[in-house]
Amino acid sequence: MLKLESVDLNVSNGHEDFSILKGIDLELEDNKFYALTGPNGGGKTSLAKVIMGIYKNNKGKIFFDGLDITNLSITERAKAGISYAFQNPPRFKGMKIEELLKISADNNSLRARLRAVGLCPQDYLDRECDTSLSGGEMKRIELATVLSRPSKVVMYDEPEAGVDLWSFESLLQLIRNYHKKGNVISIVITHHERVLSLADEIILLADGKITERGPREKVLPLIQKESRCCWQANCGGNDDEIECY
Ligand SMILES: Nc1ncnc2c1ncn2[C@@H]1O[C@H](COP(=O)(O)OP(=O)(O)OP(=O)(O)O)[C@@H](O)[C@H]1O
Ligand SMILES: [Mg+2]
Repeated sequence: MLKLESVDLNVSNGHEDFSILKGIDLELEDNKFYALTGPNGGGKTSLAKVIMGIYKNNKGKIFFDGLDITNLSITERAKAGISYAFQNPPRFKGMKIEELLKISADNNSLRARLRAVGLCPQDYLDRECDTSLSGGEMKRIELATVLSRPSKVVMYDEPEAGVDLWSFESLLQLIRNYHKKGNVISIVITHHERVLSLADEIILLADGKITERGPREKVLPLIQKESRCCWQANCGGNDDEIECY
């Protein structure tokens, strides 16, 4: 079980502090498939980064399988079985895709890992992980590396982003197959209704707070209802300022 208690995250721009996560209390059970959703800027990626140890929470505690991991490093959390697939995967100039995959996959399965995410090994193994790769290609390589590791908590940050409609269902199937192997908590950060409709539970995060949580049958209709209402930036001004081009 993964448990967050009263977790706050603040960042500073040098002049003032911003509160990004505000008193997050969350318990996630083994073998459950969670969808984490909410408006842009609500704090989903920040929450995943706090769980992974990339961001250090200013307040609160994080427990994993009963162990207090609040002060563990990223590497220690990775060793404990926590994985995170970035919303915008980092590029590694000078590193070949083969080398990147070898960090998590054994030599014999490299080609199979690439084929599974829809990339031909002969076209990609020797390429560099630099900006020459498209956004969708980088997301697939990231997914291949994460799915090569044995993990107990896997967080996928918008796996749909940049992936074409023809491939998304297959990639989603990979994520589900990994989950079905058992003993894993899957957390998919998503704006995609298809993913929401597959989740055991949906967690809604807005303005740094969990505003709704429950089985998809309960939460999905609420989201669908809310998204039919128009959205508006909450920073003054009026509709006359909106121009159509
Ligand atoms: N390192 C940082 N410094 C300053 N502000 C940050 C930092 N990281 C995140 N933020 C801000 O915190 C808020 C939450 O960002 P976050 O990336 O967690 O949102 P999100 O819910 O993942 O959004 P999206 O759906 O667009 O991916 C945003 O307003 C963002 O600009
Ligand atoms: Mg995000």
